Amino acid sequence: MNKRSILGAGFALSLLFSPFHEALAADSATTGDLRKIDNVAHRGATGYAPENTLAAFDKGVEMKSDYIEIDVQRSKDGELVVIHDTTVDRTTDGTGYIKDLTFEQLRQLDAGSWKGEQFTGEKIPSFSEILDRYRGKTGILIELKAPELYPGIEEQVAQELTQRNLDRPNNEKIIIQSFNFESMKKMNTLLPNVPIGVLTSSKAHTAPEALKEFSAYADYFNPSYGIVTKELVAEVHGLGMKISSWTVRSQEAADFLIEMGVDAIITDYPDYVDPRN
Ligand code: G3P
Ligand code: CA
Repeated sequence: MNKRSILGAGFALSLLFSPFHEALAADSATTGDLRKIDNVAHRGATGYAPENTLAAFDKGVEMKSDYIEIDVQRSKDGELVVIHDTTVDRTTDGTGYIKDLTFEQLRQLDAGSWKGEQFTGEKIPSFSEILDRYRGKTGILIELKAPELYPGIEEQVAQELTQRNLDRPNNEKIIIQSFNFESMKKMNTLLPNVPIGVLTSSKAHTAPEALKEFSAYADYFNPSYGIVTKELVAEVHGLGMKISSWTVRSQEAADFLIEMGVDAIITDYPDYVDPRN
């Protein structure tokens, strides 16, 4: 049985005996089955502002993205921070591994000027800062980046979400994903009501047995767009999972994924997915 069926059965039973039952039935009758593709701003609207900074996330919100995507790691002194690479070298004016620098040292770095003078002074955000600033304004797709480097990071992330009541069903659009599948299994055990995604660019992971294994604990199968086909989308849906694909940096790639029927597109340019943005 896949994760969605297990959770769904429990939820359906509790609803059947709740006063919300009739209201929900009426609502689904009026909404019909209109399909909408979620527009996910990859590390923020990275095409227009320095990745994983408030400038990029604000731009994602301004462009009406359904989610911002963030990469979470941990400082030497245990603070959760939002940055993609395991070192600060590419996206700041500093050098060194995230895990070897204190939060104070990380916060002193300039994470904006590499992208353009107008972004000088942008900082590496903390995870808690992102949750507090964007919850309720847009969804947050949280990637645990290289969690194998940070023992216990799953519990820490779970605690940050739980203390804000973001671990409940219908949790203000919080999703957790990683390339590290063991970490995601653990995350699913810690927060069974929070949707989990597995990331891959390996074709081997699209084999039926692999997909079935993912569906036991994951709600999303999130492949790079080079391995997406209509058949894959159908198989993933057949197993009760959704599919979000990455990383779109051209109009052609966005059009391709729309044609394939994916549920979400993770993009540096939200306007390629929805030209109204
Ligand atoms: O959300 C998908 C995407 O972020 C995975 O790759 O390297 O950009 O974190 P990466
Ligand atoms: Ca990412």
